[in-house]
Amino acid sequence: MQLAERLAIATDIAEGAGRKILAARNDQRFSQRYKHGTELVTDTDVAVDEWISDRLQQHFPDDARLSEEIAPDRQALGRKGPLWVVDPIDGTVNFARGFPHVAVSIAWAVDGRVQIGVVHAPFLDETFVAIRGEGAWRNQARIRASLANRLDSSLIATGFPYRRDGRQPLLRRFSAVMQHCQDVRRCGSAALDLCNVACGRLDAYYESVSPWDFAAGLLIAREAGARTGHVYPAPESIPEELYGEHIVAAAPDIYVALRDLLQRTDEGRSASGEA
Ligand code: IPD
Ligand code: CA
Ligand code: CA
Repeated sequence: MQLAERLAIATDIAEGAGRKILAARNDQRFSQRYKHGTELVTDTDVAVDEWISDRLQQHFPDDARLSEEIAPDRQALGRKGPLWVVDPIDGTVNFARGFPHVAVSIAWAVDGRVQIGVVHAPFLDETFVAIRGEGAWRNQARIRASLANRLDSSLIATGFPYRRDGRQPLLRRFSAVMQHCQDVRRCGSAALDLCNVACGRLDAYYESVSPWDFAAGLLIAREAGARTGHVYPAPESIPEELYGEHIVAAAPDIYVALRDLLQRTDEGRSASGEA
């Protein structure tokens, strides 16, 4: 099957999932609980994950699946062959509280290389897609990353983990970015942050996240012309394109400056050094 055909099926599934998310919020028929102590999950997250998984099984019965709520075993990342990577609701806190930054994220990788990605935002009526080597689109129109070439006029997005004990080192980074860049946005959906880099609304994004948060969005950003990578190299056991620690996606001309700023800040060197 051609990648474009596979993408069309994945996009249909993501948009179908989006309709379920819209309906669930409209009717306010979802219950909420916390997993791992601090991470909010609603029963819509689980129901949508199951619905997507059933559709993928129907269309692609031989492909493996990794998804946040019902198949989160990261051992799948290191295995050869085709793998679907799914976040049924990226932006669960936004979903539960009535904010619009909510997305369904679906990527398909082969041997750790992401081939297609779709990120659908049902409340914003936006669908971002990309095909490896062929480009990226928003609602069928071609998109391009920004041409920013200075950190001090760049708008940067990031996010923070649910676990509060993981936040302290990130506050140092946040402070450095606030000192060197125009400003920061925190929209609560990593997938949409990456798509916003892809279409030039943001100049860059950095964060440490899980594979389902970024697999599709990172391809979309790269295919739109952003430079993508990590502050520190991926370990050999995890394919780079599915490694979520210390991700950076940026307009190509500010990528190195931002990555180096984050690295210097981690090393405890002066955050006010030149960027
Ligand atoms: C979260 C969002 C958020 C990011 C968190 C993720 P979820 O995903 O992508 O922007 O900062 O790290 O866990 O929990 O809403 O699917
Ligand atoms: Ca997520
Ligand atoms: Ca999620």
